[in-house]
Amino acid sequence: MSSLALYPGSFDPLTYGHADVIARASRLFDRVVVAVLVNPGKAPWFTADERAAMIQEACTGLRVDVVTFDGLVAELARRQKASAIIRGLRGATDFDYERQMALMNRHLNSDIDTVFLMPAMEFGHISSTLVKEVVSLGGSVSGLVPPKIEARLQQRRAGSDGIRQD
Ligand code: PNS
Repeated sequence: MSSLALYPGSFDPLTYGHADVIARASRLFDRVVVAVLVNPGKAPWFTADERAAMIQEACTGLRVDVVTFDGLVAELARRQKASAIIRGLRGATDFDYERQMALMNRHLNSDIDTVFLMPAMEFGHISSTLVKEVVSLGGSVSGLVPPKIEARLQQRRAGSDGIRQD
């Protein structure tokens, strides 16, 4: 039976850290499904469909599918018949939150285990939240996100696509 891993997150937007985790997961599992949460707590800069499309484009060439979802990750994992949930672990500050989430997901679906993957050292400081903060304040995020995503972020900041008007 082929192995399937589910990688859930907000991905608002995908960073090189996420992309590195996806590449690592795709070497460990036959299939990786990246699951984009429709409504993360913080108002997202991009719709779930926009985030999914950006991930799909950045993952060209990998055995990766991208879906959007609302509701429980544990239920999605059951529906997709996933054997693992993937989460990236950048360092100790991620650990408590991730540990709690992994145990809650196992409580909700005892068939599922969480596999933590560490992105490469050079991506350890990247988060979508910081990327958006840097863009908001006029900084460059080159080297932190793929060039096309950087362009989308700059467009959104400028309000040139008519959605974000700071
Ligand atoms: O990239 P993020 O924002 O850290 O991802 C968080 C995410 C989407 C994995 C988490 O918020 C989540 O699993 N949301 C779905 C709702 C759910 O299943 N909650 C219980 C998990 S403990």
